[in-house]
Amino acid sequence: MKKLVVANWKLNPTTAKDAVKLASSINIKAKNKVVLCPPTIYLSSISYPNVGAQDCFWKTSGAFTGQTSVSQLKDLKIKYCIVGHSERRATGDTDQMINGKIHSLLEAKITPILCVGYGTTVLQDDLEVVDILKHQLDAGLNGVDASKVVVAYEPVWAIGTGKNASPEHAEKISIFIKAKYKVGTVLYGGSVNANNAKDFLRQQNVGGLLVGGASLKAGEFNGIINY
Ligand code: 13P
Repeated sequence: MKKLVVANWKLNPTTAKDAVKLASSINIKAKNKVVLCPPTIYLSSISYPNVGAQDCFWKTSGAFTGQTSVSQLKDLKIKYCIVGHSERRATGDTDQMINGKIHSLLEAKITPILCVGYGTTVLQDDLEVVDILKHQLDAGLNGVDASKVVVAYEPVWAIGTGKNASPEHAEKISIFIKAKYKVGTVLYGGSVNANNAKDFLRQQNVGGLLVGGASLKAGEFNGIINY
């Protein structure tokens, strides 16, 4: 079965020309389903079968300087949107705000990719991690049909550090999230690269990957999406 591989470009690249070039270097017919999430300002320039945003606002219009609404994303035919990334939680996004974004996205029929894992540390065992995730999932999925949400488990200590969680740990956490919240797809993210991707994709309950740094290198990312 095809898995879902999401590229989170974060605040890269620095020009629209480079963004268009990067998108055009990613295989369109990969073995797995692929979503590219460029910075908001490039969303209308990128041509790829599945494009996602990195964040959105929970109101659809009004006096909200600097925000991007789900209606605006919908107008650009954006199909996915990341919410609750730890890098946004670190700058003030609360579980309640994230929940509002998910409601708004589902109303617009855009699939939310809810990131959880903020606050986890490398020393925690599986049960302690589950405790932290429960808070984020209970609040983030409040009043939501969770089967329509993709959840991405990203332990903070694994993001951009070159130290990934073990595939077995990712599998255990995915089983927990699917069983308790009836979420259909759970992704793993955190220092995924062309060498370790297959070990995660091989796990039965890991539904795919959320890839940061390695998604900026076309050759490496094409390797990941074709496992
Ligand atoms: P890295 O793949 O660079 O560790 O980033 C993971 C991430 O935060 C994706 O959202």
